[in-house]
Amino acid sequence: MKIDGKHYRTIWIHPQNPKIVQIIDQRKLPFQFVIKDLEDLESAEKAISDMLVRGAGLIGATAGYGMYLAALNVNKKHFIKELLNAGEILKNSRPTAVNLQWAVERQLAEIEKCETYEECVNATLKTAGEITDEDANMCRMIGEHGFKIIEKISRHRNGETVNILTHCNAGWLAFVDYGSATSPIYKAHDAGIDVHVWVDETRPRNQGARLTAWELLEHGVPHTVIPDNAGGHLMQHGLVDIVITGADRVTKTGDAANKIGTYLKALAAMDNNVPFYIALPSSTFDWAIADGVNEIPVEQRDGREVKYMSGFKDGAEQEFLIMPEGSNVANYGFDVTPSRLITGLITERGICDASEDGIKTIFPEKYIM
Ligand code: MRU
Repeated sequence: MKIDGKHYRTIWIHPQNPKIVQIIDQRKLPFQFVIKDLEDLESAEKAISDMLVRGAGLIGATAGYGMYLAALNVNKKHFIKELLNAGEILKNSRPTAVNLQWAVERQLAEIEKCETYEECVNATLKTAGEITDEDANMCRMIGEHGFKIIEKISRHRNGETVNILTHCNAGWLAFVDYGSATSPIYKAHDAGIDVHVWVDETRPRNQGARLTAWELLEHGVPHTVIPDNAGGHLMQHGLVDIVITGADRVTKTGDAANKIGTYLKALAAMDNNVPFYIALPSSTFDWAIADGVNEIPVEQRDGREVKYMSGFKDGAEQEFLIMPEGSNVANYGFDVTPSRLITGLITERGICDASEDGIKTIFPEKYIM
């Protein structure tokens, strides 16, 4: 995507030094645009766990490059053993987004084929690049398929504004480029369709208010940031035509884990006959599980994120206590929307029902025992 006219992805190799990977420090957005260097396994792990990078696809791509950075720095005599260990460290950096495990497993499968250390370094660099390019490509295709849904709604509305509600940030910042939920929106906007996005602020870290709003503003897409609890009211009053969110892990039966609060939006959408779509690349499917509510691990983060809010004042990021210091807080990062509440899944291969039978129609090879 473009920032001030310059094309950026969310992760890339340093143009002058192939031993450094660069990322945008998303904790600083939208107030400052800061690029950070990742030079080793530790910095890649910290970038994921401290959320300099976040979002399912980008976590996966960072883990892919994390394995490359680990390969550059391991003891050459025991590189396989040390890289297995590096993989465990990366896999444990955040629990819910399955793209992380997927990327590490993919790297380990390549590493196991290597006979020499040099081969291994080259293989991890190549694989990280492939994971990154594929992520961007899958998101581009999600845009192509999802565009048709928005175009159809626009036709039914005789060209009047299509109001889309989204939660959290499943934009290009959450992936390598384009985003999942936002990809159809960018495509529709670029094609001249009149779209407007309701952006849930997404407490406690405000990925919607801080990141999705910034992305949409940069791209010129009309949008309005709303408090998290406003969606139901808007739907009751006919102000939402479609909900599109991303996902961090989707079961082979179509249950979808996404940022906390998504489930409530799906319930409100069902009650108001508003179509509710999940957009995801195939790297976000967990083909091994069928019961999302009981099997998807839900991250619990530091309660400080709930107790304090951060914002920008006098040219600097500041934190404010927003409740009695002595109150207890809970900080569940994700919830699971059961497939019965999901109208469809928008993937790089097309749109399908959120059910085992539906997913099988476009990913048949994943169900062969
Ligand atoms: O905690 P985050 O910011 O890494 O959460 C991920 C998300 O932004 C959302 O859940 C998103 O909709 C899915 S990731 C594409």
